[in-house]
Amino acid sequence: MQDPRPAPSLLTVDDFERAARARLSKMAYDYYRSGADEGRTLRENRRAFRRLEIHYRVLVDVAERDMSTTVLGTRVPFPILVAPTAYQRLAHPDGEIASSRAASELGTIFTLSTLSTTSLEAVAGASPGPKWFQLYVHKDRGLTRALVERAESSGYRALMLTVDTPVLGRRIADVRNGFALPEGLVMANLADAATAAPAEERGSLLASYVATRHDASLTWRDVGWLASLTRLPLLLKGIVRPDDALRALEAGAAGVVVSNHGARQLDGAPATIEALPAIADAVAGRCLVLMDGGIRWGTDVLKAIALGARAVLIGRPVLWGLAALGGEGVARVLAGLRDELSIAMALAGCPTLASIDRDLIRRAHAR
Ligand SMILES: Cc1cc2nc3c(=O)[nH]c(=O)nc-3n(C[C@H](O)[C@H](O)[C@H](O)COP(=O)(O)O)c2cc1C
Repeated sequence: MQDPRPAPSLLTVDDFERAARARLSKMAYDYYRSGADEGRTLRENRRAFRRLEIHYRVLVDVAERDMSTTVLGTRVPFPILVAPTAYQRLAHPDGEIASSRAASELGTIFTLSTLSTTSLEAVAGASPGPKWFQLYVHKDRGLTRALVERAESSGYRALMLTVDTPVLGRRIADVRNGFALPEGLVMANLADAATAAPAEERGSLLASYVATRHDASLTWRDVGWLASLTRLPLLLKGIVRPDDALRALEAGAAGVVVSNHGARQLDGAPATIEALPAIADAVAGRCLVLMDGGIRWGTDVLKAIALGARAVLIGRPVLWGLAALGGEGVARVLAGLRDELSIAMALAGCPTLASIDRDLIRRAHAR
């Protein structure tokens, strides 16, 4: 007799990517998948994790595992947060509403992109869970200030300033595809965006938007200006150097996100898991350290915690879940990584996040 249960075909993040690819247009899949230029950093973000071995401890009582932690005063049950990614309604009609609800269901933090296809107010109203707002500083400082005020008054708990995007990295596939938002989708936080970014005859609409509207002259001084606008804690996202992390601290940031924008900006930037330990050492617990880039397995999360991150964020895995199964897919991706982390902690002899220390991790010998 045939087993009536459906085959568990969507178990891993990579399974979700395959399912997402089958459902997305080529333009949308390429936009989500791409890194900059030849994709060296894109490959390295994942390969660098594979080079790290976990030298596990045995005969530790791991019957109960506690994966909870606190980030900027918010308690989360496991150390995996949702990274800001633009244009989620391109993945699924329910877009940011569905993914924020999935994060909320699982008790974790959802970060909304400035370039969302649902307004920040609508997302705030749609799910009760903790949310952060990712900010791009526009040349139009009035618009920037208004975004900060809207995020604050809508209940977002932190501002994540992305500092690695003075201009958009060149994503070759988007240029070739002439990437643009389909009819009916808009940058919902930026009322005038559609008219402000005339599509070039060739090339990516996003690239032309960033080129005309983002402030490429942004410096450390402006971080102070931004901090003065808001009572919300400020995180700087896109840091890969210890000296920049220290400057972030001096500028009053509550934390840094070690990130290379999912390898979509500077090709040749280091893999984030390799940049992380020196940054964690430099700030030495004086501010929150998060990381993202290439997290696809629970063991990757364990490695990032061991090397100094309080928690990680995931970008593409959420988009793959959303494209494959809507909000349910996002919930399954988050729960899947959470459960993989739980198994990895048990097998590594780590009952708590605090017990995941750097001594567990060694670089594999070159073969
Ligand atoms: C399709 C896509 C859109 C993104 N949009 C934004 C954005 O609007 N703002 C931002 O700060 N980062 C953005 N990022 C970067 C993510 O926040 C995050 O740093 C990255 O995806 C992490 O790498 P991962 O995809 O390997 O998890 C985007 C990434 C992707 C893949």
